[in-house]
Amino acid sequence: MTTTTDATGLGAIERGGARVSVDDKAMINCRADVNQLLPLKYHWAWEKYLAGCSNHWMPTEVSMQADIALWRSPNGLTDDERLMIKRNLGFFATSESLVANNIVLAVYRHLTNPECRQYLLRQAFEEAVHTHTFQYVCESLGLDEGELFNMYREVPSITDKAAWALDYTQHLENPEFSTGTPERDQAFLRDLVAFYVIFEGMWFYTGFAQILSLGRQNKMVGIAEQYQYILRDESIHLNFGIDTINQIKIENPHLWSAEFQAEVRTMLKDACDLEVAYGRNTMPRGILGINAELCEQYMHFITNRRCAQLGLEPVFGPAENPFPWMSEAMDLKKEKNFFETRVIEYQTGGSLEWD
Ligand SMILES: [Fe+2]
Ligand SMILES: [Fe+2]
Repeated sequence: MTTTTDATGLGAIERGGARVSVDDKAMINCRADVNQLLPLKYHWAWEKYLAGCSNHWMPTEVSMQADIALWRSPNGLTDDERLMIKRNLGFFATSESLVANNIVLAVYRHLTNPECRQYLLRQAFEEAVHTHTFQYVCESLGLDEGELFNMYREVPSITDKAAWALDYTQHLENPEFSTGTPERDQAFLRDLVAFYVIFEGMWFYTGFAQILSLGRQNKMVGIAEQYQYILRDESIHLNFGIDTINQIKIENPHLWSAEFQAEVRTMLKDACDLEVAYGRNTMPRGILGINAELCEQYMHFITNRRCAQLGLEPVFGPAENPFPWMSEAMDLKKEKNFFETRVIEYQTGGSLEWD
């Protein structure tokens, strides 16, 4: 087996070291040289890297003219719609950075596989594009920068989610932390669940539904178009996280104990409760097409779906999807005229199936 002094790829080069065999590669705690992409072992990771590249987009390519006119018009939006939009943007504005920091400062170091790292590098750039989106929206609409970007420290329902997720990342970014014991490997898995499955796979979805619901009524169509592209990116991020967790489970079945499975289900349940509270806080009264009760039902549906993707029993009883149009919104190829606005066909290569 090829060895390096540590799992980072930054150790001294082993002169004349043996060539890497696919069998030497592993998701975590691997000592095969992480600087050698080939031979590929995890083709699913490479395919997601290619899919991410095919989906390249930039927020500045989307016109904000209609949004600016509507936002400035005194009667264009109700007070409830404005509150929902602001709290929605405020949640995403810093969440994209929290997710990016977790990838770069916590996950990357401990995922000891080069094709997975290749995907993480692509994802990190996409998170930068997403943060750019909120800078662009803020500038276009003339929003208060401090109000938007400091919202995660001022609005408790947003603070609660960010604080909950940061608890899981804090010990991983400690330079003293490394995987290699069952307890610490489980800490790494908890972080993957908290960020990929919950933050990107559950908490973004109320926000997507809110803005896409407005877009369906021809309101804030520029932001809605940007959210479609973010949603397309995020569904790959989520699926990468699910595949990563499931592959670690296959390679380390002792980590996926009955106790740990129960803990993950509790995490998903608690995260769902936080999201329901956020939904009520962003929509204290109903808005045409969407309200806190429907979002709660949607989150139960999403939570059960995430359980199934991880091979866990559902947390909630059977829940129907109250927003079937969300799956249409994810398929940009079929629904070019979803918002009847200028839509660019960004996808330049192969496509994936969305969850
Ligand atoms: Fe993102
Ligand atoms: Fe993401």
